[in-house]
Amino acid sequence: MTTQGKHIAVAGATGAVGREILACLEQRNFPVAKLTLLASARSVGKTLPFRGEEIPVQELTKDSFAGVDIALFSAGGGTSKEFAPAAAAAGAIVIDNSSAFRMDPEVPLVIPEVNPADVRSIPKGIIANPNCTTIITLMGLTPLHREFGLRNIIASSYQAVSGSGAQGIAELESQVQAIVAGQPVATNVYPHQIAFNVIPHVDVFEANGYTREEMKMQNEGRKILHLDTMRASVTCVRVPVYRSHSVAVTATFSRPVDVERARQCIDAAPGVRVCDDREKALYPTPLDTSEKDDCLVGRIRRDLVSDNGLTFWVVGDQVRKGAALNAVQIAEIL
Ligand code: A2P
Repeated sequence: MTTQGKHIAVAGATGAVGREILACLEQRNFPVAKLTLLASARSVGKTLPFRGEEIPVQELTKDSFAGVDIALFSAGGGTSKEFAPAAAAAGAIVIDNSSAFRMDPEVPLVIPEVNPADVRSIPKGIIANPNCTTIITLMGLTPLHREFGLRNIIASSYQAVSGSGAQGIAELESQVQAIVAGQPVATNVYPHQIAFNVIPHVDVFEANGYTREEMKMQNEGRKILHLDTMRASVTCVRVPVYRSHSVAVTATFSRPVDVERARQCIDAAPGVRVCDDREKALYPTPLDTSEKDDCLVGRIRRDLVSDNGLTFWVVGDQVRKGAALNAVQIAEIL
């Protein structure tokens, strides 16, 4: 740790995203003067490694934030609702990974490569990190939007179990082991067996038949892009992949599209690269982006249904760019 730097608190430090936040802070040489690790009372007594030191985990309480400059929250929506306002009241800027504050008009919802200027005004002391599938989709889509003018999207996601936290990973692992051993399969996290299966149900159903996760693409996408007219029809699917979400996107634009120009625009944008060569069977898979920062785009082609449409496949590590890295990048622009 450095004497010149910020006092950083991580709420939910023991979780899948919390641990990744620590890795991102370390790998990106974030100037951390002091690190406070917070989780539930169950984790008191544990330590987590950071820059060669073992840092003790403390219980998250409303008094945890004295002297904290930036509090990174990743402990679920209920915990954020309960504790993030206390952190902000104590003077910390909160960067919240949950959905608790995302649609609050006084809370900026930020992808640093897309709408960094939105952090200029933080009236509640809280900045929200968008939904992971929305972040990864917009990483591929934003360069195309800037060039061709986005109108609407139709998308299907293929979402990894680590999107459900450490317990999602444990459920896939234990089900695979049970099946291989010929034992009965227990389901706790998902409504159906996830091992050797796919489940078209992520988050709870809304009255319109879409799930809340599916509606986030339209609701959060509009706010991030400042594009209130954009419509998104999405099917979110959980797949037996440990890490990295993939999204098949068909987007329609207001101006004529060109595939070669689309490739150039994506490659020129930060945090996203084209990986697309049919001759070599080259396109991104979840294994290609896992534990990597950049999102990858492949299978770029003209949509055959709409006039100004493009279809593409975008993949990104949702624990990293979809959550921890995006939060740390927001802290960097602060
Ligand atoms: P703990 O490990 O003590 O349960 P994941 O999404 O990977 O399951 O991680 C959830 C994170 O949120 C963990 O760090 C977990 O801590 C933390 N957490 C969950 N509920 C609470 C709570 N009520 N108070 C503080 N931290 C919580």
